[in-house]
Amino acid sequence: MTDNFYITTPIYYVNDRPHIGHAYTTILADVLARYHRLINVPTWFLTGTDEHGQKVQRAAEAAGMTPQQQADETVVRFKALWEKLEITNDDFIRTTEPRHQKVVQDILQDLFDRDEIYRADFEGWYCVTCERFYTEKDLVDGNCPEPGCGRPVDKITEPNYFFRMSKYQQWLIDYIEANPTFIQPDFRRNETLGFLRKELNDLCISRPKSRMAWGIELPFDADFVTYVWFDALVNYISAPGYLQDDARFRSHWPATCHLIGKDILTTHTVYWPTMLKAMDVPMPKTIFAHGWWLVGRDKMSKTAGNVVNPMAFADQYGVDAFRYFLMTEMSLGQDASFTEEAFIRRYNTDLANDLGNMLSRVTKLIGSYFDRKIPTPLEAGEAGERLRETTLRAAEELVASVERMRPDQGLNGLAAVVREANRYMELRQPWTLAKAEETRAEAGTVLYYAAEALRIISGMLYPVMPGKMSALREALGLPAGDPDFADLHEWGLLKPGTEIQKMKILFPRIQTKEPKVDAPASPREEKPMPESKESPVGVAQIEYTDFAKVALQTARILEAEKIEGADKLLRLQIDLGEEQRQIVAGIALSYTPEALIGKTIVVVSNLKPARIRKVDSNGMLLAAKSGDQLRLITVDGELPAGSSVG
Ligand code: ME8
Ligand code: MG
Repeated sequence: MTDNFYITTPIYYVNDRPHIGHAYTTILADVLARYHRLINVPTWFLTGTDEHGQKVQRAAEAAGMTPQQQADETVVRFKALWEKLEITNDDFIRTTEPRHQKVVQDILQDLFDRDEIYRADFEGWYCVTCERFYTEKDLVDGNCPEPGCGRPVDKITEPNYFFRMSKYQQWLIDYIEANPTFIQPDFRRNETLGFLRKELNDLCISRPKSRMAWGIELPFDADFVTYVWFDALVNYISAPGYLQDDARFRSHWPATCHLIGKDILTTHTVYWPTMLKAMDVPMPKTIFAHGWWLVGRDKMSKTAGNVVNPMAFADQYGVDAFRYFLMTEMSLGQDASFTEEAFIRRYNTDLANDLGNMLSRVTKLIGSYFDRKIPTPLEAGEAGERLRETTLRAAEELVASVERMRPDQGLNGLAAVVREANRYMELRQPWTLAKAEETRAEAGTVLYYAAEALRIISGMLYPVMPGKMSALREALGLPAGDPDFADLHEWGLLKPGTEIQKMKILFPRIQTKEPKVDAPASPREEKPMPESKESPVGVAQIEYTDFAKVALQTARILEAEKIEGADKLLRLQIDLGEEQRQIVAGIALSYTPEALIGKTIVVVSNLKPARIRKVDSNGMLLAAKSGDQLRLITVDGELPAGSSVG
């Protein structure tokens, strides 16, 4: 086994233009490939297009083109999108290329010669959309059994060619059980094992040209073309040179990871391994199926008219921010919801507010007080050491998260470090320290520590946001180009005296409409957080129905700021899942605004709106109180904003 990293995406159908789901898988593969290159693992990243089969033929008919024209036109859109999204694939395979077709035919001939493929009459049910045949017992209520399909099927009888897949059923079950990382996540492995509990049929691998001519001709029967999946899956070995260039093939194969969406699990975890077994080719190491991007709560589909165009989105909001959002918002393996609001929220919080602000604070202060030169650090004290430790730990954790295929976790960990670094600045107040001669050196230390944290964080985020992180690093006086990953595990490498560069705002805030606050019927001036003087013990008992009137929900704090002339009050923008709201809270003596951003708190969400010091407040947060001490009620573990509490 080689210690290389060979990652693939599905090859996408050219029946339609790429959408956000395609962009997601490809960006994820790109991010993983970039990380591996940066840690000096020989990396090979393959993507491409699936150009044969009924779907493409139909699309071509509808567009009044030949299938080849349809493919030629659509492949350009995919390639242009990958270029736009800064995808660093090493090869791009099209299944209509001779280099691929020849390998498919050679494989077919070999399998036919060895009686792994045979001819027989076929009677069955065919789903046009899924391009799959089913036996009577496969059908669900007489319709296509594919999850998410369920369309009516057509009855068909015709001679065809079959791959002896059934004879590998027990072998495959044993293999999957003996190799727990072969199919990931675990629940997908169980799904495949569940599928294999039923009897596995042989696989029909041909289509009579009379019915569907757009495919690779069978080398042993010119009346037939190859079933599109038996053609498409082979791309993973034809591209690296199987049967063409043995040395090259062996230097890549087996693939480290076939990255796929959950929609194509069976073809990848049942068809493909049995095909490889029959060919006597080693198995890929891992097949990883990620979840589904939904739009709001719905499946993205053309008919629903909610397909997000990744090209337009990246144009509007920037490639890097788009990549960052996709990588952080989806918890790998689970479904996630794509909405413009969610994008803007994360952008404004993580990028504009936290990371962007931190950079501009650091560079501005170094500019004004240290002649644009990175200051020399002295003893940093406890808070500084803590920041150093957290940053280095997050960097390690990110690498580990990439290795266990959970980059989303490592990236969210980095976002937390950025918040912590901002809190560190709030705590140490370098803007105040810098003003006085005698504390200026101390300010320099704080700024050095903050800049170091930025150096490491930006290097770690580089594979996700190569453009923006290059700009950030150049602003800190670091060399352009790929960061050296070894340097990101070491503290103190920024050279004092290095000149920092002026730069434009890295992530300009996206302006949104003011959150909708229903004007209260009769605005009342009200004391925030009514203080109960009584101890809980003395409180009268209530009926459950009284309690049930109170709607408690989790909320994420997006923004926090002081209210002029009210030293106890903060104005908060909170995310309640379905909506964004403003509330006023009397917690300014216990929390700085910076410390609050990103926290998940509990709010009473059905409190009548009020005006507090002329500021609308639409809800109330919960906090525990002891003397002057206030501590927010937060949630133990990850739950979406807007979850009910009770
Ligand atoms: O299935 N959310 O191609 P395809 C997340 N040609 N990912 C999504 C998605 C969504 N809503 N929609 C699509 C094919 N994807 C075959 C593959 S491979 C040998 C042949 C992504 O154009 C996801 O990776 O329908 C999914 O598996 C793939 O696009 C399907 O692309
Ligand atoms: Mg599909």
